[in-house]
Order: sequence, then structure tokens, then C-alpha cells
Amino acid sequence: MIIAPSILTADLSNLAESCKEAVDAGLDRLHLDVMDGNFVPNMTFGPPVIKSLRKSLPEHVIFDAHLMITNAEDCYMDYIDAGCNHLSVHVEAATHLHRLVTAIRDAGATVGVVLNPATSLDAITEILPEIDLVLVMSVNPGFGGQSFISSVEGKIRRLKSMIDEQVKTGGRPVQIQIDGGIKSHNIAMVGEWGVSNCVVGSGLFNDRGTVKENLAILQTALEV
Ligand code: DX5
Ligand code: ZN
Repeated sequence: MIIAPSILTADLSNLAESCKEAVDAGLDRLHLDVMDGNFVPNMTFGPPVIKSLRKSLPEHVIFDAHLMITNAEDCYMDYIDAGCNHLSVHVEAATHLHRLVTAIRDAGATVGVVLNPATSLDAITEILPEIDLVLVMSVNPGFGGQSFISSVEGKIRRLKSMIDEQVKTGGRPVQIQIDGGIKSHNIAMVGEWGVSNCVVGSGLFNDRGTVKENLAILQTALEV
């Protein structure tokens, strides 16, 4: 199971240090939650901040940007130029999803498509052969620290079958990532559903312990 730390609930006034804490704990895929105050009711950061972060973190660290923005089709390149290795774009926000996905891959990044909790899998059936990852939201995007929506189980299990079928017929393997409300009590469960990449924000960055301590709790939960 890949654990991708979401820095949303980290100390944003000390962003580089928070990221380093996660990297030092052994987590090398940073999940960067980009919010535009339009697609979601909150704002975070954009390419300039990501570019600065890139300079202060080791090269092997994967920058996984979750673009919660309405205009990814216009500005995806700014995120790649800023140093992102992976971009996930919301199916609900893209008019020409195929064009966007192709452009991101042509620019050298891996690409994911994100489904909000109320968005059906049907929205990605046609694009599944073209992408590297599907991000299933288990909260409504916009804020860290929200409660897990367990009804995404059916969607994830069906997605896993679709991907298995695709691989069986020679198609590309697609990773299933989940985002929102992942903690020690549900991380193993979503793994059983077919998730292999968990975004964890408040489960790692909180007042109860260091990232290293909180990660150990998650890893223990995955082992039992
Ligand atoms: C929500 C973000 C998430 C989220 C994760 O819009 O995409 O990455 O903040 O944080 P937790 O784990 O606290 O739900
Ligand atoms: Zn996210």
C-alpha cells in the first residue's frame, strides 16, 4: 500500500519542513491538494509554491498534484513546469477529458482522473485505457479532516473488476487511489476493496503525534 501524505492539514506556514517530515518518515509521494475557490469552496496554493517546494525536497520525491480547479485544461502545463510528476484531474471539471489526459501524458507526467463521491464510474469507462490512476474521493473535496464516506465501497470494487478485466485483455494496469478520511481504522479495509494508494492528511499531520509515529500506527493497521 502506498501512503501519500496530503499536506493540507500540515503546518502551512512551515510547508517545506512539514513535507520534509513526511519524506524523512519514508513517504516519497507527496499529495498536493490544489484548490481554486471555484471548483471547491477553499483555496490552497498553485505553481509558484509547488516550484519552491520542489527546490527544497529531494529529486526522488514524487509530486502528485490533485487539481481541484475548473481550468486544468488551460494551466496543466504550469504544474508540470513547477515540478509535478503526476497530475490528477477531476472528471467533473474537464470538458475535453481525453484531450487533457493525452496532453498531460505527452508532457511527460503520469495522469489520474478523479471521481467525486456522487460521480458514477460510467464517467471514466472510455478513458480508463488511457490513464495511470483513478482517484476515488471518499469525502467531498475542499477540506481536510472530513468523515469517510463508506458508500464508495461498491464503486471501488466495481472499478477494481474493470481494471482487472482491462489488464487481462492486455491493457494497462491502473492504480486505485482513495482520498479523504483514511485513518488506521479503515486503511486495511480499503486495501481489501482494491485500493493500492491511500492519501492520508489528518491521519498523519495531527496534534496526537509526529508523522513518523502516526505512520507507524497506519502500518500496524495494515499488517494485522
Ligand atoms: C480533500 C483533499 C484531501 C484531504 C485528505 O479535498 O483532496 O487530500 O484533505 O485529508 P484527510 O485525510 O484529512 O481527509
Ligand atoms: Zn486530495
